[in-house]
Amino acid sequence: MKRFFVLTILAMLATSCGNSSAERQSAAPASLHKAWWKEVVVYQVYPRSFKDSDGDGVGDLKGLISQLDYIKSLGVDVVWLNPIYASPNDDNGYDISDYRAIMPEMGTMADFDALLKGMHERGIKLVMDLVVNHCSDDHEWFKQSRSGRNNGYRDYFHWWPAEKGTPPKRWSFFDEESNAWHFDRTTEAYYLHYFSRKQPDLNWENPKVRQEVYGLMKFWLDKGVDGFRMDVIPFISKDTTFPPLPAEYNGNYPAYYAKGPHLHEFLQEMNREVLSKYDLMTVGEGAGVAVEDALKFVDEDRKELQTFFHFEVSDWGRRKGDFMYPDSSRRLPDLKAVFDKWDKVFEHKGWGTVYLGNHDQSRMVSRYGNDTPPYRDSSAKMLHTLLLTMRATPYIYFGDEIGMSNIRFTDIRDYRDLATINYYKRLKKEGGNLAEFLAGQAEVSRDNGRTPMQWNAGLNAGFTRGTPWLKVNPNHATINVEGAEKDPNSILNYFRKMIRLRKTEPALVYGKFDLLDAENPDVFAYTRSLEGRTLLVALSFSTKGSSVALPARFKTGKLLINNLTESPVQGNGLMLKPYQAVVLEVGK
Ligand code: NOJ
Repeated sequence: MKRFFVLTILAMLATSCGNSSAERQSAAPASLHKAWWKEVVVYQVYPRSFKDSDGDGVGDLKGLISQLDYIKSLGVDVVWLNPIYASPNDDNGYDISDYRAIMPEMGTMADFDALLKGMHERGIKLVMDLVVNHCSDDHEWFKQSRSGRNNGYRDYFHWWPAEKGTPPKRWSFFDEESNAWHFDRTTEAYYLHYFSRKQPDLNWENPKVRQEVYGLMKFWLDKGVDGFRMDVIPFISKDTTFPPLPAEYNGNYPAYYAKGPHLHEFLQEMNREVLSKYDLMTVGEGAGVAVEDALKFVDEDRKELQTFFHFEVSDWGRRKGDFMYPDSSRRLPDLKAVFDKWDKVFEHKGWGTVYLGNHDQSRMVSRYGNDTPPYRDSSAKMLHTLLLTMRATPYIYFGDEIGMSNIRFTDIRDYRDLATINYYKRLKKEGGNLAEFLAGQAEVSRDNGRTPMQWNAGLNAGFTRGTPWLKVNPNHATINVEGAEKDPNSILNYFRKMIRLRKTEPALVYGKFDLLDAENPDVFAYTRSLEGRTLLVALSFSTKGSSVALPARFKTGKLLINNLTESPVQGNGLMLKPYQAVVLEVGK
């Protein structure tokens, strides 16, 4: 039981699953409601780690501006930028102290305006992070709120007066004691923080708070930003009587947090008051959301969000019940079933997203591929093929386009992420197995995905002339943008080619998805069909040669892309080499 209450965002992956057999058997064609945000490819930039222009070791907006031509050259359409607002950086910008100001380490509002202009001039859209489940304890609202029980901002946050006794247990992702209630002496009361103590939860049940949020959203939209990625948005509504955790959620707080009593009313209100007034894209971080509830968020008729990120793919390969540790018994058929299930749920309504990496995950090639020298190249290309052939909007995390891999720190002093550091502190206090924990973090920690961008083989990989805020991966000597640009067969150039293929084949965006050979333990194969044209995607997840038998009705035609040189087509089947990936015509 105790094992579950870990200090990590990754526990949000604890969504329940299951899909009705009726849905799974549905044979109706894919939804064809076209929209620009369904057709785009999104590139996620973690600005702290992208490019430093002033030598302070932290990536910044001017650095990002200097790389806009590179981003444009990738062929992506949208950039999702992690938070750049004023923040004391307890959680790298996910603790905001002023929603209308830029963090000085990142630059100024003039830099932001120049960034937006530079992106729009290149035809790239900008999606900003919207972090409004919580703010920073340095935000003026919280300073006011904690100053007195009668302060006008008191109800902007959730307070539990000490005279009522200890509040019912709420679990916190990052707290050193995993306790989401923190006692504040000034007013003899506890405040709620689902994340760290420096990230107090805003009280959305208070209409004034909601108006503040809508106001700040309009501020950025009126500047011209093109949408929002909404941080832990399913957590915003709370039962303010704070009852004991209902028994059915025992061991799964995130699922409870994602079912607040007024969540969907608030999302509909946000849509009415803000979203519906702009042509934008929205993606919620669907923490705690189970597939059964997916359409409540994105069914067009409900007028809430357009898309959200589910957590079941990033859940694969983590130990159930304690997500700070990798799971060595993972199976490919389970991963395929997850993709299949999340495709089917949006077959008639709504729309999905697909990602294999982000700033909360370790590197894609290290987790789902194979980052050892013989296979890093082919497995990274194979994963890009997967990302860019799904019926969902693809999100590519910076650095994955060159196959950046886990740094695998062995010393706790190298970590900067509060999730790893606070969990380690607690384990140490409890006399837990620190060596086992560190071995696990080397595979799954968030800092693996946050090491600086590898631009070249030189000092600090060309990221900064100062001391980087987080160590640069020593493999930048061979894995870097400069080298990849020169090699026509690099992961980078394959990624560009794959984007071009997605853009020229509407079947890869809108086509129906059908899983083939579901129990094949080594190959992920599926078709995408639209208006009589059927494309087969076959992806090897194995270090061995693997075969796929194709249905007799398939007529293998043109090979549209292949990450290796030899064709795998053999008669009416495929024989794939390790980590081989192909897209092939199989019908008109
Ligand atoms: C989800 C964000 O992606 C993560 O980085 C952050 O720590 C938490 N939400 C809290 O804002």
